[in-house]
Amino acid sequence: TITPVLLAGGSGTRLWPVSRKSFPKQFAPLVGEESLFQASARRLAGPRFAAPLVMTNADFRFIVAEQLDQIGIAPAAILIEPAGRNTAPAILAAALRAAETDPEALLLVAPSDHVVPDAEAFGRAVDLGVPAARAGRIVTFGITPTRPETGYGYVEAEGEGLGPLVLRRFVEKPDAANAARMIAQGNFLWNAGIFLFAARTMIEAFETHAPDYLAPVRAALAEARMDLGFLRLAPEPWDRLPDLSVDYAVLEKAANLSVVRYCGHWSDLGGWDAVWREAQDEVPAERGAVADARSTAIDCDNVLLRSQDEGIEVVGIGLKDVMVVATNDAVLVAGMDRAQEVRQAVAALKSKG
Ligand code: GDD
Ligand code: MG
Repeated sequence: TITPVLLAGGSGTRLWPVSRKSFPKQFAPLVGEESLFQASARRLAGPRFAAPLVMTNADFRFIVAEQLDQIGIAPAAILIEPAGRNTAPAILAAALRAAETDPEALLLVAPSDHVVPDAEAFGRAVDLGVPAARAGRIVTFGITPTRPETGYGYVEAEGEGLGPLVLRRFVEKPDAANAARMIAQGNFLWNAGIFLFAARTMIEAFETHAPDYLAPVRAALAEARMDLGFLRLAPEPWDRLPDLSVDYAVLEKAANLSVVRYCGHWSDLGGWDAVWREAQDEVPAERGAVADARSTAIDCDNVLLRSQDEGIEVVGIGLKDVMVVATNDAVLVAGMDRAQEVRQAVAALKSKG
């Protein structure tokens, strides 16, 4: 079986004001009834999978435990990172922990904030990657790109078909010109941010490409203590780790990468425009206006209206290319093409205090 490693430590600031420091987007029901985290955990349950490892931080530990309990999934462990240092140390910690019992254990690292509605098709893509992972490769999952997105990683695949294909090059978050060039070249896929590998393979990749992580992460695990059922990694060496994603720290440099093409629907809910795009299928859209149960769009075009608070009704009349997201203490009003700038707005609010 494969052990899922759910990454649930990000802060998701681009989905403010629903995503908050103390309650980020992965725990909110943004698409459908369940939270994205619950949907992710459910997708990675079933006959192929062992109980998941969850990587999160102290602020979210009770939300994680409660949301898993609600859907009847018992985690193998919930590891608490002392501080958010991005995905590189989190993934290494998961690999080291799994290797304690079996260095050949297969791990499937997955973000907890994606929308992948067809769990069965996704499971089949995972199955395709298993032999390559057993053979010591790090398997990524590639999505056919539809626009020169700069917020994703790109993988250059060798050959046709579903794969696993040899991955020639991994480029994390290119600038717009490079993204356009890769799309024009045709053999690049988006990196879905989901990785399948044997625990040993990832540890060796860090030894080769990011050796500075090993001693501190090993120490954080060795000194970890159980606290109310959570495994708390020791803070001292961890806090001094650089904040780096696994994509930059290891994957851009690794030579043993493969990619499985995933043809089902996949979305990283990277901003409110992405939520609007998802909801198009869910809510009957009138000229591209998406309103939730507490909102009304009259004569609107390319508009998202959302109210997260039972006491607040949102009404839009004659709007075009606008998003409105209301919560009990904040309202976002922005142009639909400015979704990525919400991150900067949150940073500005923070510095205002
Ligand atoms: N446990 C833990 N600790 N999780 C974290 C941390 C951390 O410090 N930082 C981020 N995460 C989680 C996020 O919550 C998310 O689920 C996942 O790790 C990926 O982090 P993001 O910050 O969302 O990465 P990204 O979207 O910018 O880029 C990655 O995903 C893209 C696809 O969505 C990369 O892998 C790209 O190459 C990829 O295209
Ligand atoms: Mg992301």
